[in-house]
Amino acid sequence: MLNIFETQQKLAAAFGPSGQENEVAGMIAEIAKPFADEVYTDRLGNLVAYKKGGGEASVMFSAHMDSIGLIVTHIDENGFLWFSQVGGLAVWRIYGSVVRFGNGTRGVVFINGKANPKEAKLSDLYIDIGAPDGKTARETVSVGDVAVFDQPAFLMSGNCLASPYLDDRIACVVLLAAMQEIPKTANDLYFVFSSQEELGLRGAKTAAYGIAPTYGIAVDVTTSGDIPDHKPKMECRLHGGAAVKIMDASVICHPRVVKWLEDAADREGIPRQREILQAGGTDAGAIQVARAGVYAGAISIPTRYIHNPVEICALDDVEACVKLVRASCAISL
Ligand code: CO
Ligand code: ZN
Repeated sequence: MLNIFETQQKLAAAFGPSGQENEVAGMIAEIAKPFADEVYTDRLGNLVAYKKGGGEASVMFSAHMDSIGLIVTHIDENGFLWFSQVGGLAVWRIYGSVVRFGNGTRGVVFINGKANPKEAKLSDLYIDIGAPDGKTARETVSVGDVAVFDQPAFLMSGNCLASPYLDDRIACVVLLAAMQEIPKTANDLYFVFSSQEELGLRGAKTAAYGIAPTYGIAVDVTTSGDIPDHKPKMECRLHGGAAVKIMDASVICHPRVVKWLEDAADREGIPRQREILQAGGTDAGAIQVARAGVYAGAISIPTRYIHNPVEICALDDVEACVKLVRASCAISL
């Protein structure tokens, strides 16, 4: 079985902001190929690993490959880069962080001296790449270039894992680990590594249309309610097992899929918990309304500090999710 930490480390270090998933897709394709009958990409950048089954039903799993990022909108004469967001960024999360462009250029995010840090907007932040002036900066970085968080992944005490972009590379790892040990089932299985989720579930939308699955299961991170004074109150927590989604801002999971996932977990003794995410969506939202509708649900990995430069999850939960994906491949309603 694939090493979860090492694979996450590798995928998290790849450059892959929304719309530029090529590098991550290449790495994933290489790992997936020996375990799939066919691996292909579509025009939106989704990577699909297809595993032929008995043709009874088709099940589409979806984990997004893309990450949030900082997109350069203006380079000033002093060489500072001003930016906008690709996906959900917040000033208080990224102020002081280290970022990296596709060509390897590194920079530090800081705040305009005129801004009040408490009320600052993203437009008050800039990236300092150490360029002495605008001309030099433009030789390395162009308007439209995107930077991603530049942080190492590491193991922590308590069986936890810290890494940039657990959202959602850790779910890509979950699918890759699961597909390595899946027996032949009555269902045709599509493991989709989707693009542009952070911009509104765009990749999952075209992937679901193209595949036209009977069932769709998104695998993504979800918030963990066990940090100090977490608001709103949330039961889902680290070490609580695989989280079966009930609802988020993009989807109400089909009760039959929820029941099926929970039964599968209980049958195989996989620890599980329920999840309701009040802000934020998942690929399940796009899959559910594809074509004439898809039975949709989601398996979530409880994660602290989502969309921070470094996020934290528990290895035991990741392993529970791998087992649950595997168990759900044999879905039959
Ligand atoms: Co996200
Ligand atoms: Zn995500």
